[in-house]
Amino acid sequence: MCGIVGYIGKRDVAPLLLEGLQRLEYRGYDSAGIVVTSPKTAGLKMVKAKGRVRDLEAKVPARFKGTVGIAHTRWATHGAPSDENAHPHMDAEGKVAVVHNGIIDNASELRAKLTADGVEFLSETDTEVVTHLIARSQAEKLEDKVRDALRLIEGTYGIAVLHADFSDRIVVARNGSPVVLGIGEKEMFVASDVAALVAHTRQIVTLDDGEMATLKADDFRTYTTEGTRTTASPTTVEWEAESYDMGGHDTYMHKEIHEQVDAVDRVLRGRIDDRFSTVHLGGLNLDAREARAVRRVKILGCGTSYHAGMIGAQMIEELARIPADAEPASEFRYRNAVVDPDTLYIAVSQSGETYDVLAAVQELKRKGARVLGVVNVVGSAIAREADGGMYVHAGPEVCVVSTKCFTNTTVAFALLALHLGRTRDLSVSDGKRIIAGLRKLPAQIAEILEQEDEIKKLADEYADAKSMLFIGRVRGYPVAREASLKLKEVSYIHAEAYPASELKHGPLALIEPALPTVAIVPDDDLLEKNRAALEEIKARSGRILAVAHQEQEKADRTIVVPKNEDELDPILMGIPLQLLAYHTALALGRDIDKPRNLAKSVTVE
Ligand code: F6R
Repeated sequence: MCGIVGYIGKRDVAPLLLEGLQRLEYRGYDSAGIVVTSPKTAGLKMVKAKGRVRDLEAKVPARFKGTVGIAHTRWATHGAPSDENAHPHMDAEGKVAVVHNGIIDNASELRAKLTADGVEFLSETDTEVVTHLIARSQAEKLEDKVRDALRLIEGTYGIAVLHADFSDRIVVARNGSPVVLGIGEKEMFVASDVAALVAHTRQIVTLDDGEMATLKADDFRTYTTEGTRTTASPTTVEWEAESYDMGGHDTYMHKEIHEQVDAVDRVLRGRIDDRFSTVHLGGLNLDAREARAVRRVKILGCGTSYHAGMIGAQMIEELARIPADAEPASEFRYRNAVVDPDTLYIAVSQSGETYDVLAAVQELKRKGARVLGVVNVVGSAIAREADGGMYVHAGPEVCVVSTKCFTNTTVAFALLALHLGRTRDLSVSDGKRIIAGLRKLPAQIAEILEQEDEIKKLADEYADAKSMLFIGRVRGYPVAREASLKLKEVSYIHAEAYPASELKHGPLALIEPALPTVAIVPDDDLLEKNRAALEEIKARSGRILAVAHQEQEKADRTIVVPKNEDELDPILMGIPLQLLAYHTALALGRDIDKPRNLAKSVTVE
């Protein structure tokens, strides 16, 4: 969703900011804007455009010079996508410009008051109230003007502010929406996402909620919204600028599917302890005694991360014998759930920014629960809010549709399940068995990816379907759910996932040749049950594509995947279906990396 990028230094700022905005495009947006100034020239120059960053670029005049600037990609919340509603927002005098991520909850109230005072609004956005509040502050310093405005605001924000009378600085503030400073050599950057920074610097400072910062070309300082100085030591981002490039692939989705061999290798690296047949997960902040005291595990996430959590819950139950389940964080946070002190809560999120997950974490912590994070983006809001956790080390995921992060998250859960299991009753030999299985994963993923040509043919064969049914039983069910989500979001083909065990209770009525079924059929103790489901579908002339460990007689087509340990099979079985979704979308000419109506990080409700 919305993205912020800003720069102060000696370089020509507009090209830098436009390049930064391009790096944020993957998050999803509908309009963009830029404002620049410089300590030498008074006044702010602004351009905004509905549409893509390239539309904005086309509107930027040749003489749009400056050495200080802020820019934004907007995802409409208050007011339709339009030039007027795009950020930055300026006051009537053209002195203050603000870009904002998040939502101002009391915007209508503030707008009514400002309008009654004679302020004329140029947009329908909530952000514009912030601009006017800053412009109307009588404080002398820009920092105090911003502070005065923030005191009146309720809601979430990451903001960057430029003022024509203070053109030697950018003032930024954070409450619930990420703000990251990039520290350069006599130049400073700011962004809502490190993706916009890593081409220039890997030294970053992530602001905390309630923190502000002043950026000057050769200096920065951080302080609370109350004005107390805070200490901020830069850390080095692991991800390199090249990780954000397409690396010879036609889409990020394709690249990220193929990166899974290395990504899985990375999440395992340095964590396996052969001596005790367990794993080291130092970041959990949970000693063996505390781990043993856990009576229940509750996993919370949204979308694909929720599906990874469903797989994780099964692994934890199987390997650690702790009752575990997963629930969409978006549901959990609204149902006044009973928060139990003996339950270990785990928040799962690729971005670490998803608002519903963050809100669930905050609610849990307020009630005294212990919350771990299983997160990809280092230093993200959920990672910081959690009491401990583990990073899934998938590397940056740019495609809106999650693939490698899903797989890495399921592997991370296998590690956690093994760890919890070995502090309890999982035997040394079972520990060894799981470790051997984990070590096989990268080579097995490579084996699956080698089948891409065959899977492409299958995708061409199924691309004319209007709807598809995905079924799986127990370990296969979350795999079916994730595969169904992947297909629908990237190809726009309607898809539905059902437990195979529920077929007779309703969905069988749908079966006919026009509705293909994708069945997850692992070679485990439920194989015969799954085969019976295939029989039932076949008997009603249904077409079946099976993902299995051996050819399935009743299926029209089978994608054979390598067998691992039963508990780890779900990690692998979804991978060919990522390729199926990808090639189906390709056959249908879809915008694969940016499916319609979707954003990479859902930072609003
Ligand atoms: C689907 C997808 C989404 C995300 C969901 C949660 O491909 O990417 O369903 O999984 O929006 O996002 P994170 O994991 O960033 O919390």
